[in-house]
Amino acid sequence: MATLVIGGAGYIGSVTVEQLLGAGEDVIVLDNLSRGHREAVAEGVKLIEGDMASPAVLKRIFHDHPIEAVVHFAAHSLVAESMIHPLRYWENNVQAGITLVRCMLEAQVRKLVFSSTAAVYGEPTQVPITEDMPLAPTNTYGLTKLTFERILRDAERANGLRSVCLRYFNAAGATERAGEDHDPETHLIPLVLEVAAGKREKLAVFGDDYPTRDGTCVRDYIHVVDLAEAHILAIRHLRGGGDSRIYNLGNGKGFTVREILEIARAVTGHPIPAEIRPRRAGDPATLIASSERIIRDLGWRPQLGDIREIIRSAWSWHQRHPRGYGASAH
Ligand SMILES: NC(=O)c1ccc[n+]([C@@H]2O[C@H](COP(=O)([O-])OP(=O)(O)OC[C@H]3O[C@@H](n4cnc5c(N)ncnc54)[C@H](O)[C@@H]3O)[C@@H](O)[C@H]2O)c1
Repeated sequence: MATLVIGGAGYIGSVTVEQLLGAGEDVIVLDNLSRGHREAVAEGVKLIEGDMASPAVLKRIFHDHPIEAVVHFAAHSLVAESMIHPLRYWENNVQAGITLVRCMLEAQVRKLVFSSTAAVYGEPTQVPITEDMPLAPTNTYGLTKLTFERILRDAERANGLRSVCLRYFNAAGATERAGEDHDPETHLIPLVLEVAAGKREKLAVFGDDYPTRDGTCVRDYIHVVDLAEAHILAIRHLRGGGDSRIYNLGNGKGFTVREILEIARAVTGHPIPAEIRPRRAGDPATLIASSERIIRDLGWRPQLGDIREIIRSAWSWHQRHPRGYGASAH
């Protein structure tokens, strides 16, 4: 039996595919390569180039392959873009998700691991954030992810589809083979490293008057390999007959933008100039996860939690892939 990884040519998906293979799992990837890279898919893994929004594509895959479970990474995930083009987000993150659920049920595939996000909490009332805190997304991206979580809740109740929703905080870092190559890039660590590498002149820091230790925003960074491991535990939980779950995934430690800059300067040996700009609307001051629930329930243990090592791994990948996956990508 195989696991279908949708969005497996993207950043977190490609690392998860690598870890699944390492764990002896059989994997098939579906990706439309809208944001992913063919080169990111581990060698020997079947990549089906197609869109999750297409029932015909999904039906064919479930017909042709013995799929036991689906890991669903495919989404649009740029917060600002989601406010400018909300319908695009509803279509890809919700409508195409419903198509997936329908096709899974038709094919009698009833195990799903879903990439959700800390954005479902909006501006938290308290940190660290636990799963039972208020859900109040402040952007369309977060709202579409929360909506799909709700759809999955209904699909379990009415149709017996069991799922694990993983609410990631900030994924970062790389493996030897796979790293972060988004276009446009909006995540702090790769942006900082692009400045270090001379690809950008300076880093824009949005706001230095937040109620945090140095005035810049605090975020919780989690190594992409630790994230990937949680997916393997989630699949095993579902395989063992476990019920639907929702888990936060972070390190439980927060770093300010200024602290990330300092660490990146030390790791790269480059000065990394930065410029303070006004705050962006909707950026919470502090986002830190409590991951106690997944630690307790599934025995998840982040192994690569050291922020220096996270940045070092990303820098090392960046140096080996100065143009990301390169001109041959797409
Ligand atoms: N990167 C983070 O820090 C972070 C944080 C929280 C949540 N997430 C969520 O995790 C998931 C993966 O994030 P990522 O950073 O790896 O994103 P990514 O953009 O690198 O990967 C997503 C992949 O899905 C593919 N895709 C998108 N729509 C598709 C469709 N309709 N059919 C087939 N393939 C499609 C893209 O081509 C891409 O390869 C996303 O759902 C994102 O919302 C990411």
